[in-house]
Amino acid sequence: MPSPRNLTGTVVVITGATAGIGAATARQLVAAGAKVALGGRRRERLDELVAELGADNAVGVVMDVRQPADNARLVAAAVAAWGRVDSVVPNAGIGMYGGILDQTDEALVEMMDTNYAGTVWTVRAALPELLATGDGGDIVIVSSVAGFRGGDDEAVYAGTKHAQVGLAGSLDRELREQGVRVTLICPAGTATEFAVGAGRVDNDPRFAEWLTADDVAHAIVTTLQQPRSLRTAIWTLWSMGQGS
Ligand SMILES: NC(=O)c1ccc[n+]([C@@H]2O[C@H](COP(=O)([O-])OP(=O)(O)OC[C@H]3O[C@@H](n4cnc5c(N)ncnc54)[C@H](OP(=O)(O)O)[C@@H]3O)[C@@H](O)[C@H]2O)c1
Repeated sequence: MPSPRNLTGTVVVITGATAGIGAATARQLVAAGAKVALGGRRRERLDELVAELGADNAVGVVMDVRQPADNARLVAAAVAAWGRVDSVVPNAGIGMYGGILDQTDEALVEMMDTNYAGTVWTVRAALPELLATGDGGDIVIVSSVAGFRGGDDEAVYAGTKHAQVGLAGSLDRELREQGVRVTLICPAGTATEFAVGAGRVDNDPRFAEWLTADDVAHAIVTTLQQPRSLRTAIWTLWSMGQGS
């Protein structure tokens, strides 16, 4: 039986690491021996997480995924700290809910730019470093079950998540022969700040049944631990309490 890959010393770039799934992934990866470069806009959150994980294990870069140059700075920080990047987790995302005519132009542009264009910019910044390792590396994109179906009051959000699915499937075709493994993580509702944000209410009783950030982080870490001869391609996740 293949054994899980040892992640000790591997270098992982994570966007959206100041909260939720990204922060949980950083914690689990460091516990597994990896080094992490963390991106997000909130400096205080980054500083707290780096202090928690230890400056030998984590670097934080204040960055906005909508800006290609910011993604380049994040990748450069990983290379400056540890000399390489083995994996990248484009995870940063926002969701604002409402009818398509009820939402502002600005909200729709922010979702499209963050969730889809941001993923593209993060991949483009990291890919040359993944290839430079000579070992291929991993691209693990955090999409959603909204990447496969429509949802109520989330037309544009679901569209951005579908776009990530098309991006990942095409990157897999483009990069697999160079050893780059592309995986989509597609969680159902996950109890994070995102879930209690715009359009949803805090203390919603459904949250008790939802996935946790740690559940999704576990899927991301397990993906990276798979033997390099295997790929999951698409991992959809629900809790046992959630309907599919
Ligand atoms: N929660 C769910 O129900 C659920 C379900 C399926 C999929 N997902 C996906 O999971 C991913 C993570 O979401 P989450 O639930 O962990 O939400 P979260 O707790 O709100 O975390 C979102 C992260 O994205 C970052 N971010 C947002 N805009 C950014 C920008 N322009 N530049 C850089 N970072 C940015 C935030 O950091 P800053 O604010 O500090 O920048 C934060 O660290 C998203 O892609 C989301 O679509 C979530």
